[in-house]
Amino acid sequence: MLSEKLLTTLNEQIKHELYSSHLYLSMAAYCASQDLDGFTNFFIMQAEEEKFHAMKIFHFLNDKGADIKFYQLDDPSAEYQSVLDVFEASLAHEKFVTKKIYNLMDIATQEKEYSTITFLHWFVNEQVEEEAMFTDLIQKIKGASHDPSLMFLLDRELALRTFTPPAPAAE
Ligand SMILES: [Fe+2]
Repeated sequence: MLSEKLLTTLNEQIKHELYSSHLYLSMAAYCASQDLDGFTNFFIMQAEEEKFHAMKIFHFLNDKGADIKFYQLDDPSAEYQSVLDVFEASLAHEKFVTKKIYNLMDIATQEKEYSTITFLHWFVNEQVEEEAMFTDLIQKIKGASHDPSLMFLLDRELALRTFTPPAPAAE
């Protein structure tokens, strides 16, 4: 049985993951407005991945027999000046999500809720990957800032990104 505090914070994390999904869709819309089809695809796939993160918590709470809640999402709209601006905002957002995961881990650890601690390890590792991916892309975009052909190649590379949720046994 999860404590009220841990359950509320896990439900809030569903909100953060679904907000991430909306945020990345809004970034996809910006990239589409700039005719960057590969970047648009990248953010649409990222949005799918965030929905999958939310669903991992959904299934965990369901397995624990806990009440799943959906809190109101904020409007993710923002004015972006450039693709670099979008990626810097993405990295800042992932750092925010990492803090939220760490806070969840703090609560689960204080409460010695071992099943939640084990569950959260996947998210701790995932956040390392997310931050590394955005940091790497920021470097690439900076490197391409004075060379449109490099930007074209990067856009083409990002057009290839796909997302298939792993089968439950492989997660
Ligand atoms: Fe996420």
